[in-house]
Amino acid sequence: MAVVIIGGGQGGFQTAASLRAEGYEEHITLIGDEPGVPYQRPPLSKGFLLGKQEQRHAELRPAAFYETQRITLVTARATAIDREARRVKLASGEQIEYDTLVLATGARNRMLPHEDVFYLRTLGEATEIRQRLSAAQDVVVIGGGFIGLEVAAAARTLGKQVTVIEGQERLMARVVAPVVSEYFRNQHEAKGVDVLLNATLYRIGDKEVLLGERTRRPADLVIAGIGVVPNVELAREAGLPVGNGITVNEYLQTPDQRIFAIGDCAECPSIFAEACVRLESVQNAVDQAACVAKAIVGHRAPYTAVPWFWTDQYDIHLQMAGLPAGFDQVVTRGDPQTRKFSVFYFRGGRLCAVDSVNRPADHLAARKLIGARTTLSPDQAKDESFDLKSAV
Ligand code: APR
Repeated sequence: MAVVIIGGGQGGFQTAASLRAEGYEEHITLIGDEPGVPYQRPPLSKGFLLGKQEQRHAELRPAAFYETQRITLVTARATAIDREARRVKLASGEQIEYDTLVLATGARNRMLPHEDVFYLRTLGEATEIRQRLSAAQDVVVIGGGFIGLEVAAAARTLGKQVTVIEGQERLMARVVAPVVSEYFRNQHEAKGVDVLLNATLYRIGDKEVLLGERTRRPADLVIAGIGVVPNVELAREAGLPVGNGITVNEYLQTPDQRIFAIGDCAECPSIFAEACVRLESVQNAVDQAACVAKAIVGHRAPYTAVPWFWTDQYDIHLQMAGLPAGFDQVVTRGDPQTRKFSVFYFRGGRLCAVDSVNRPADHLAARKLIGARTTLSPDQAKDESFDLKSAV
C-alpha cells in the first residue's frame, strides 16, 4: 500500500500530515517541484515582503518532521500518470508506484505578454521581489486583487511610490461587494497609493509604464497579480475530466477511484455555491486534505467545510466566509467609517457569505451561521443589537 501525493504546497503537505495523524502506516511520498520543505504562501505577500517574517517562519514543518513521520519528500517534476500501471513518472525518468494518488498540483500565475514583469507565488519569486523592492522607488502593481493589493500595501509601507492598475471598475471585484471594494480603494488612496481603475497596461518603457498614449507612470519595478491558472495538465493527459479544475465528486474523487484531487487545482460540488466550484484558499486546501486522508483510511465522508478566506493590507484584516456568487441582497453591519464593519450577502433570502473588516467575532459567527444554514434575516444582520451568536 502506498499513497503518492503530487504537489508540495499546503494541500499536499496537509494530506501527508493528516494521513499520519489518522494512523495511516504505509508509504507516503510527497512530490514537489520547488526546493526545500513545504511552506505557507500567505506570508509571502505580507510580512515576508516587509522583512518581518523570514523563510524559516513560513516553513510548515522543519525537515526533521518528514523523517520522524516517514514521509518521503521528492523534489522533482511529475511528468505523467500511468493509471493502468499505477505509476507516476518523474522528469528524471524515475517512476513511483501508488495505490492511491492525490493530485494537489495547485495553480500557477497568469502572465502578461510583457517582459520585465515580476510575479509572486513561490518563495523564490517572493525573495526576488523583496530584494528588488529594497532598491526600487516607483512600484507599479498590475491587478487589484488579493496579491496585488497586499503587495501594494507592503511596498507603500516600505515607503515606495505605488501605483495599482486594475482592469475592472473596482478592486477585488471577483470576491467582494462594491461597498468593500470602495472601502479598500479609500484606504489605499489615504495611504498615498495611486489607484487606477478600468485601466490596462499598454507598454513597459524605460523606467515607466504606459497605459495608452497619454497616461504614464514612473516604474522601476512592475509586479503583476492578475490571477492564477489551475495546474490540470497531468490529470487531463491521464484522461481524467477537467473543467475549471480537475473535476471531482463530493468525496474529492476523480472517476478513477484511486485518484483524488484537492485544493486550487480541483473543482468540486459545493453545497454553499449550489454548483461545482474551484476555490483558491488555504482553508480549502487544508480541509480537503483532511477529508481525503480520512477517506484513504476508510472514513469516507462528503466534503462540506464552510469556505473562508482572508487578506491583510496595512492594519486592515478582511475575513470572508461563505461564497457570495449570485448574491441578490447586501446589508452592512457597523459603519465603515469606524474601520470595523461586516457585509452580509443574501441569495434568495438566505445568508450565503459575510465579509468582515476588523470584526473577527462577526467572521466566526458567520462561519457557524453559514455552516448551519441558519435563517438570518437581512434586518437582523444589520441590527447591531441583535446577537449573531443567538441565531446559530
Ligand atoms: N490588467 C489589470 N488588472 C487585471 C488584468 C490585467 N491585464 N488581468 C486581471 N486583472 C485583475 C482582475 O480584475 C483582479 O482584480 O487582477 C486581479 C486578480 O485578482 P485575483 O483573481 O484575486 O488573483 P490574485 O490577486 O493574483 O491572487 C491569486 O493568490 O492569494 C491568493 O487567493 C488568492 O488564489 C488567489 C491567488
